[in-house]
Amino acid sequence: MAYRKVAIAGATGNLGPSIVNELVNQGFEVTVLTASGNTSGLPSAIKVIKVDFSSQESLVSALRGQEAFISAIPKHDQQPALIDAAIAAGVKRFIPSEFGSNIVGNEKARALPVFAGKVKTQEYLRTKQDQISYTIVTTGLFLDWGIGLGWLVNLKGKTQINDNGDSVHSFTLLSDIGKAVAGILNHPEETKNRGVYVQTAALSQNQALKIAQKVNPDFKAETEHVDLAEEEKNAYAELSKENGNIGSAMVTFIKISIFKEGYGNLWNEKNDNELLGVKSLSEAEVGDLIAKYF
Ligand SMILES: NC(=O)c1ccc[n+]([C@@H]2O[C@H](COP(=O)([O-])OP(=O)(O)OC[C@H]3O[C@@H](n4cnc5c(N)ncnc54)[C@H](OP(=O)(O)O)[C@@H]3O)[C@@H](O)[C@H]2O)c1
Repeated sequence: MAYRKVAIAGATGNLGPSIVNELVNQGFEVTVLTASGNTSGLPSAIKVIKVDFSSQESLVSALRGQEAFISAIPKHDQQPALIDAAIAAGVKRFIPSEFGSNIVGNEKARALPVFAGKVKTQEYLRTKQDQISYTIVTTGLFLDWGIGLGWLVNLKGKTQINDNGDSVHSFTLLSDIGKAVAGILNHPEETKNRGVYVQTAALSQNQALKIAQKVNPDFKAETEHVDLAEEEKNAYAELSKENGNIGSAMVTFIKISIFKEGYGNLWNEKNDNELLGVKSLSEAEVGDLIAKYF
């Protein structure tokens, strides 16, 4: 039976509002747990509880009566405490803050230092699965966010072409991640204790550049080549320095997981789109999307 009463933490960030909006539109009873109390941009049909995320008591009290708990917080290694609170409150399903690269199914992605907190959370969930079930959502780079950021194609400057730019990867719109989460809650049995994969489009950077030129013939693509193996070496070198640039190294690891071959970043053959109600975009629809960013 579907879970209808759901709580979410991290609702006000880059991803959270897309999940909250879809859940509210589908008639779920949504409770937002917030540290800041700021809920701007969220629909009014939600219950808001201000919590102290460092207090188990505060979390358990906010989670009582909820059937599922979605985490979209950026501090991944803080999630075991959220899982413990969810168990104590009797929550049935935990959806951790993943929503990105394929660290469930690919050992190389899993070993990247940037994902240590996500890996720790996954391992913790597996040890607790007799007390709370889980679903891990793998999406690839957020398609719309990635275009806005210039990572897939840069419409305002030079596109960094990772390796040869021809390998194809899976990407998902923020709104489709909302649909995927609703799909999990509508299909708890089929999604129990496993990773699910969704994608809105499978594209290479060179294909995306061609589409951009087609929708805007005035667009002159400027590119620069990035050798990801070289970047990876440099990123590990930064980590080993006393005052290395950790932030930049972490961004490199994220890009490697999204764009480098061998990191399991394509699931167009086998995914959970149909089960979870996510549709793939046609090339023309990807063009309509890209056109919005000129
Ligand atoms: N695939 C991709 O392209 C992609 C891109 C970006 C992010 N992601 C993933 O998506 C997930 C969400 O990321 P995001 O960028 O949406 O997050 P975010 O914007 O950095 O933060 C989301 C919200 O979490 C709450 N928060 C912050 N620190 C917290 C803490 N220590 N404890 C509890 N709540 C805290 C804040 O809301 P309140 O103050 O209201 O509580 C904040 O607005 C992450 O797992 C991230 O790795 C994936």
